[in-house]
Amino acid sequence: MKPTTLSTLNRYKQEKKKFATITAYDASFARLFAQEGIQAMLIGDSLGMTLQGHNSTLPVTVEQIAYHTRCVRAGAPNAFLIADMPFMSYSTPEQACLNAGILMQAGANMVKIEGGSWLIPTVKMLTERAVPVCIHLGLTPQSVNVFGGYKIQGREHDEAEQLKQDAIALENAGAQLAVLECVPVTLAKTITDALTMPVIGIGAGNVTDGQILVMHDLLGLTPQAPKFSKDFLQEAGSLKGAVSLYVQQVEQGLFPEEKHSFN
Ligand code: KIV
Ligand code: NA
Repeated sequence: MKPTTLSTLNRYKQEKKKFATITAYDASFARLFAQEGIQAMLIGDSLGMTLQGHNSTLPVTVEQIAYHTRCVRAGAPNAFLIADMPFMSYSTPEQACLNAGILMQAGANMVKIEGGSWLIPTVKMLTERAVPVCIHLGLTPQSVNVFGGYKIQGREHDEAEQLKQDAIALENAGAQLAVLECVPVTLAKTITDALTMPVIGIGAGNVTDGQILVMHDLLGLTPQAPKFSKDFLQEAGSLKGAVSLYVQQVEQGLFPEEKHSFN
């Protein structure tokens, strides 16, 4: 297997070939995900909730993401790995560089940061210094205290327009991948079409180039699973089967369904 790179994901977007990605936090699951054909994985700060049991992602540290990135890299040597930059680890461009360096040296191929146009200088600084950036827009969980809960974003016309303009501005600043979380399907479609870079959706309908799910949601381990997720383990009956079914259904455009999406 050749290593998966940003060129691979760009080609999928051009060829309109939908692709499945997933969060991964350790070597054993990363190996299974790679074996079942998942080529890109996110070491998400969702580990603050799934692994650590917190009720938000805010307590997660750079060192913790670095540790889990090393674990995932050991299990999936050829996967394209995106590492989340934790809350307050990129509040200035300089701080972002320092912390992104730690994650890249731990084995990441790219870092992900949450937010809109205020991140333009950060995206520029990172990409100029050879750190590819994935931008996370829509429901950005690190802002839960600003939003007042985990709520759909971009429902109002002005808010939707702002999200689209932010996405375009960040792509122009150098961002090479986007995650779009919990936005209406029509907005997800508009943004996916407006951007050259691949867009990975979660709670954004089946119109994005790729999909991502938190692995614990996909395996039915989350007590109150979000509307946009699906327990593939229940349907498939084995870990291997669950991952394989997820990949298949994403590639065929069968997941997410309308009931997993917002209008
Ligand atoms: O931390 C995470 O798992 C994420 C995904 C939900 C996109 O950011
Ligand atoms: Na995250």
